[in-house]
Amino acid sequence: MKSTAILPIGLAIVATAAVLITSLEGQAPTKKTPENRFIPRGRAAAEGPAQFFSMPGGKGPVNSPSVRPREAETGFDSLTNGYFEQGPDFDTITEDNVDPLRSYNDGRFIFEEKETAEDGLGPTYNTQSCAACHQNIVTGAASQVAEHRTGHSFNGVFFESPGGSLIQSRATFPDIVEHVLPEDATRTFRISTNTLGDGYVECISDSTITAIRDAQPPDQQGTAPEVAVLEGDGTAGIGRFGWKCQHRSLLSFASDAYLNEMGITSPLFPDEDTSQGEFVGFGTIYDPLPEPENDGTDVQAFVNFMRSTKAPARGPITPDVFFGEHKFNNIGCAVCHVSTIVTAAAGTPINGGAFTVPAALGNRTLHPYSDFLLHDIGTGDGIPIEPTPEFASTATQIRTAPLWGLRTRNRLMHDGLSSTTDDAIQRHDVQGAAARDAFNALGDFQKAQIIDFLDSL
Ligand code: HEC
Ligand code: HEC
Repeated sequence: MKSTAILPIGLAIVATAAVLITSLEGQAPTKKTPENRFIPRGRAAAEGPAQFFSMPGGKGPVNSPSVRPREAETGFDSLTNGYFEQGPDFDTITEDNVDPLRSYNDGRFIFEEKETAEDGLGPTYNTQSCAACHQNIVTGAASQVAEHRTGHSFNGVFFESPGGSLIQSRATFPDIVEHVLPEDATRTFRISTNTLGDGYVECISDSTITAIRDAQPPDQQGTAPEVAVLEGDGTAGIGRFGWKCQHRSLLSFASDAYLNEMGITSPLFPDEDTSQGEFVGFGTIYDPLPEPENDGTDVQAFVNFMRSTKAPARGPITPDVFFGEHKFNNIGCAVCHVSTIVTAAAGTPINGGAFTVPAALGNRTLHPYSDFLLHDIGTGDGIPIEPTPEFASTATQIRTAPLWGLRTRNRLMHDGLSSTTDDAIQRHDVQGAAARDAFNALGDFQKAQIIDFLDSL
């Protein structure tokens, strides 16, 4: 989307402009240096009482809300979950009439829109649109597209490759395409995660996630990393998005992605990426546009869209699937792959006060099959959230992959290198070893029921 966004003419202009201004004011980051902006300030707030979650055989608070939670909306149908209105027929939206902050369909258009160098794409980037990596069945989902991350460790301390551990795979000029240095021996791929239903995930209170952690057996307890919510004043929140739980809010993640996947700067990520540490931003021959290349409108449109998406829908629940889930619970898979979590009540301030849980997303029951915590199951890629001492332990950890939508994916685990669910299970070691061993000790019939269950997700 060009940064010279054309606002709609007519009466709606006042309302739209007001929304735009408030949302942009809400985003204004406190000036922080690149070195310290990701270090969270203070401790994460509780964000209200912990809500219900399932933990077979374990303890857990059962908060009885005055209003019974409703099931979250699910479906692969490109229809809104009710947070934002559906908007005009998607096929009628064009680059000239799109109104980014108007509706789900407008947000989806911006999420799918292919950017060019004139819009700020690059100088280094990965692909041209969010949907290029987040589309499968429908826009917003996971995909097989993998990013490349590298660095090296010395005396147990991780050092990112020059300019950051993310190696952008493309550039707008041939001489600034990034290459991996021979000494950067820590090398990994991370495949694109799902964003469908992430508006609900954002509305899980920090207190619920820490209560899940506290209910896990000590040797399988997850880590709830406290990360900076960039649109607030950098206060801490419990990270839950990305393979490393590296962000707590969708606005922080979307701003990060706009820069790091597409090379487009916006208020929360105002500094252009380098090419292997060399400055290639505005003022050099590589970048014609001053920062920020987008005023924050596109990022807010991505967020509005993602917050309005329905969660992945289940396949048919046959008797084998039903019994398979019981066995999945019995052998300890559900300690990490938590089947049921209830979001915070509508009206609860989250994200360091920068967002309030809306009615459409509050007090909803989700079935993500994840605790949104980091675990060491022996697959850690060696790269921490940030190369700073407080995040060092995250190098060996990966977020419990949410299993919702599993049947739509055929490259599994963070690196996409497992081709079948059985391969993925066999890679569970350390904190996942007991569950893997319990799975392997089952008879063929019971194993098949668990696989049937996984294939229904
Ligand atoms: C080149 C591929 C690529 C593009 C383009 C891309 N993403 Fe992603 N996205 C990924 C990958 C890979 C991850 C997981 C990254 C990680 O955890 O290190 C991810 C994760 C996410 C997540 C976290 C979801 C979750 O629950 O884990 C969000 C939100 C997201 N992307 C939003 C966006 C938005 C918004 C855009 C467009 C500005 C975008 N992405 C563009 C590849 C991409
Ligand atoms: C200690 C926590 C833990 C337990 C217990 C656990 N898992 Fe996992 N699971 C994870 C983590 C963490 C990942 C992601 C690892 C990675 O990507 O490197 C994962 C990934 C997976 C995946 C791949 C999903 C995808 O989208 O790529 C499947 C399938 C899976 N687990 C099934 C199971 C089954 C079945 C069991 C029980 C036998 C189980 N898990 C037990 C933590 C756990």
